[in-house]
Amino acid sequence: MQGLASPRLRLGCRRIRAGDAGLLLPEETATIAARQLSARQASGAARALARDLMEEEGLEAGAIIRSAAGSPVWPAGVTGSLAHDDEMAVAVIARRSDILSVGIDVEPAAPLPDDVAALVQTAADVVTGTARNLATRLLFSAKEAVYKACYPLHETILDYPDIRIDLTRGEAITITGFRAGLRFCLSPRIVVLAVAFHPA
Ligand SMILES: CC(C)(COP(=O)(O)OP(=O)(O)OC[C@H]1O[C@@H](n2cnc3c(N)ncnc32)[C@H](O)[C@@H]1OP(=O)(O)O)[C@@H](O)C(=O)NCCC(=O)NCCS
Repeated sequence: MQGLASPRLRLGCRRIRAGDAGLLLPEETATIAARQLSARQASGAARALARDLMEEEGLEAGAIIRSAAGSPVWPAGVTGSLAHDDEMAVAVIARRSDILSVGIDVEPAAPLPDDVAALVQTAADVVTGTARNLATRLLFSAKEAVYKACYPLHETILDYPDIRIDLTRGEAITITGFRAGLRFCLSPRIVVLAVAFHPA
């Protein structure tokens, strides 16, 4: 997973543990309180990880509240993204001056059920060159990562066909005109990073 990082992007992963809901700051808990304990544990683990990354970057590691739409609200000067599955939390952060927007997703390295794949994949998506049994799971994960990077900028709810992915080129574009570069790893889990830079 560290192979996805770059000098301007810090990312990490952390196993979710029983007491991780206690890592949420009070202002974060206030925006997450209604959720089940397992979800609060995952959110606590991801936020603790993101705060460690902000500190490593020399940034003030403040609260990351959840907006009404579900997106994380980052401290001033920071952009980032969070994701979790049943066991692992992942996070990425960057200085907003360096990176326009970033999205991350984590998925088990297992085939996506065919009925879900049929909802996710369109003829416009390019998946050649990726491990055939994981191609649609990777595509699914890439679309979620792109959505998370796009949403804070365009505030538009996108469906899977609204995002076109080219895994061979490592590129994505949405129907709202958002473009991102893609980086991913497949093992031991699928992790996808969608990164948008400031216009030149
Ligand atoms: C964003 C979304 C795709 C996340 O998927 P998920 O599998 O439920 O959860 P993940 O573990 O991958 O990610 C969870 C994190 O995503 C982030 N997130 C949620 N909504 C977000 C949004 N609108 N924009 C950016 N990030 C968002 C949050 O940080 C969340 O962590 P938290 O719950 O600890 O605050 C999903 O919640 C959603 O909003 N879907 C509606 C739109 C959709 O599904 N379109 C088709 C996909 S392109």
